[in-house]
Amino acid sequence: MAPLLEVKNIRTYFHTQDGVVKAVDGVSYDVNRGETIALVGESGCGKTVSALSILRLVAEPAGKIISGEILFNGVDLLKLSDAEMHKMRGARISIIFQEPQTSLNPVLTIGRQISEGLEFHKNMSLHDGMLEATRLLKLVGIPHPERRVYEYPHQFSGGMRQRAMIAIAIACQPQLIIADEPTTVVDVTIQAQLLELIRNITKELDTALILITHNLGIVARYAKRVFVMYAGNIVEYGQALDVYHQPCHPYTAGLLASVPRLDEPRKNRLQPIEGQPPDLIAPPAGCAFQARCTYSLPQCSKEKPVLMQITPGHFAACWISQRGTKPWQK
Ligand SMILES: Nc1ncnc2c1ncn2[C@@H]1O[C@H](COP(=O)(O)OP(=O)(O)OP(=O)(O)O)[C@@H](O)[C@H]1O
Ligand SMILES: [Mg+2]
Repeated sequence: MAPLLEVKNIRTYFHTQDGVVKAVDGVSYDVNRGETIALVGESGCGKTVSALSILRLVAEPAGKIISGEILFNGVDLLKLSDAEMHKMRGARISIIFQEPQTSLNPVLTIGRQISEGLEFHKNMSLHDGMLEATRLLKLVGIPHPERRVYEYPHQFSGGMRQRAMIAIAIACQPQLIIADEPTTVVDVTIQAQLLELIRNITKELDTALILITHNLGIVARYAKRVFVMYAGNIVEYGQALDVYHQPCHPYTAGLLASVPRLDEPRKNRLQPIEGQPPDLIAPPAGCAFQARCTYSLPQCSKEKPVLMQITPGHFAACWISQRGTKPWQK
């Protein structure tokens, strides 16, 4: 069966005073029906912009999808009219935003915000929408939902706002949910609870999920396949366990060394990746990771590596692993 979503060679650029920021520069991936994939990488690598591109929510006029195709059930979302796209958002594809405090409307009750999509997409009355909102708030673990449904976002804690966002996202039973990891708003324990909640709900509803996260250490628990992004490109992808246990890109190995691993006793100190990602306005000629790579070859600063299969189903854009060596694997 064809994948639910096929993102093909998307480029999303921002025109700024300093030049053109190539935030997403030729990204491709697919998501099968009911499947969870993870999109992983450091801050600024293009995870959110690539997700917003799917929903055509990139801030215009500065931001623009320059090229590519985004096939959803075989239909190119980039070719839909604004009205058709509006019908798609929330109903068939929804997003749980990274910052709920800015994406919830402060002057509407939580219940109304959940009900809105049901009224628009499912022709529900406000009364039925509010009843359904109450049920959904209960489902996402909000206590006293029959009272909370009439409250405003400022009356909810950070974790509860995130739960309300999940309720909005699942209200119309979309086929695909994009969850952009809350990084700063909630503490790690609550973050873990939210991930479990999202996992259980998507499993139950058989919804496909794109999980966006910094933390490669957790993805094997949630995602079947992982796509690692660096500087606007996917540099490695494969089955989550393969990527986790046998990274084929030194950047992925660096990400793994920088987070606590659940499967190993804490032997070594966590090691952040030294250096900074490249300037996305004037990216380097060769591999974007070359300047931070301990293992780089002369070829790495000259030619940009493309994704190649290293082992079955496991791809990396790295000249070193493409030569058959992986010095970062112990
Ligand atoms: N409106 C904008 N104008 C200019 N540049 C932008 C804009 N939005 C994003 N960018 C740039 O695009 C790049 C990718 O940003 P994006 O938000 O996708 O990163 P991210 O991987 O989601 O990071 P984080 O993990 O911090 O959320 C960054 O370099 C960012 O500065
Ligand atoms: Mg982001």
